[in-house]
Amino acid sequence: MIRTKILGLGSYVPDRVVKNEEIAFLNDQHVRQETQQSETTDEWIQRRTGITERRYVPNESGLATSDLALQASKRALLDANLEPQDIDCIILGTLSPDLHFPGTAVFLQDKLGIASRGCACFDIRQQCSGFVYGLQMADAFIRTGMYKRILLVGAELHSHSLDFTTRGRDVMILFGDGAGAMVLGPMESDDPKSGVMYTSAHADGSGAMSLYLKIFDIAKLPYLQYDPRNREENQPMYPYMDGKRVFLNAVRGMVMSTNTALEKTGLTWDDINWFVPHQANLRINEKVAEVAKIPPEKILNSIQFYGNTTAATVPLTIDHWRQQGKVKRGDRILSSVFGSGFTWGATIFTL
Ligand code: COA
Repeated sequence: MIRTKILGLGSYVPDRVVKNEEIAFLNDQHVRQETQQSETTDEWIQRRTGITERRYVPNESGLATSDLALQASKRALLDANLEPQDIDCIILGTLSPDLHFPGTAVFLQDKLGIASRGCACFDIRQQCSGFVYGLQMADAFIRTGMYKRILLVGAELHSHSLDFTTRGRDVMILFGDGAGAMVLGPMESDDPKSGVMYTSAHADGSGAMSLYLKIFDIAKLPYLQYDPRNREENQPMYPYMDGKRVFLNAVRGMVMSTNTALEKTGLTWDDINWFVPHQANLRINEKVAEVAKIPPEKILNSIQFYGNTTAATVPLTIDHWRQQGKVKRGDRILSSVFGSGFTWGATIFTL
């Protein structure tokens, strides 16, 4: 039977490193000031989140989310030994799209130089769960024979939509820019443990207003009702987060989906090489590991270096540790994610 194989993996982060010590001194143009712009400290950020640094696109680079996606895609294609022309479907997860519409996948398609070929382009707007949602779609498309070479990308440019004042510090310190990509294709195999073995995707829309970025309200005329320069009014430009509620639900969703993934596949932690959780907060991942009794030596995190890159965290973390020589081709990975929506899910696959 046809099963889904991971043909290639790649990731990209911009060169600019923003350490915790620096972030408090950045203004909204990302330029370091002499005086502190927000009240936060390296000690607070590390203790509450585990983050030490994150990456931002360079100031005035003109880069968009699709440019980060492009770099990660090129690396994944190289890893798969394929050309952009081989791709017949793009699935892109992001919460920081280039524009409100059209979707970002079409910009990526054009930047890959394959627009004239007309391949299908999908945008997944499931935030931190975007990669697992996208993988479930890709797996279904490949198993049914709908597409043969799918480029699945998670890409985020967060740094342009954060509030660099004390008002926005709880969210601002968490997020970074980056992208991760996979190329997926069919293989003939009767081994149910090969390739993409399992995916699950869930949502609870009653949590939608616990983590959101409004920007506009389409129910109103005019649909933008603030002056972006007026600090009192411009809150809708920035993400809102009920941190404690998100934290609790993230632990619950990730533990539940991790345990279900093992139950449904009949696997135990002995069968899994690596647990790669979504990278939202190291304390969330520590709690998930404790409750789900995950062997600590099997857990891979990268939030220390990149912060939360939302839809990109899973492929970025795997690729980071592959580059360090830890993760190898043929390793079996269990990944669970949680994000705004609320959305969550899990997957088990062989790299
Ligand atoms: N620096 C210093 N102090 C900060 C701060 C920062 N960057 N951000 C918040 N604080 C302050 C708060 O204002 C509060 O001050 P107060 O006690 O005077 O009111 C204090 O720290 C404690 O805030 P609290 O929100 O209770 O902290 P917390 O332990 O819940 O940690 C988060 C805050 C954001 C780190 C945590 O809630 C979290 O990680 N939530 C999940 C976030 C997440 O995963 N989002 C993405 C989901 S995919």
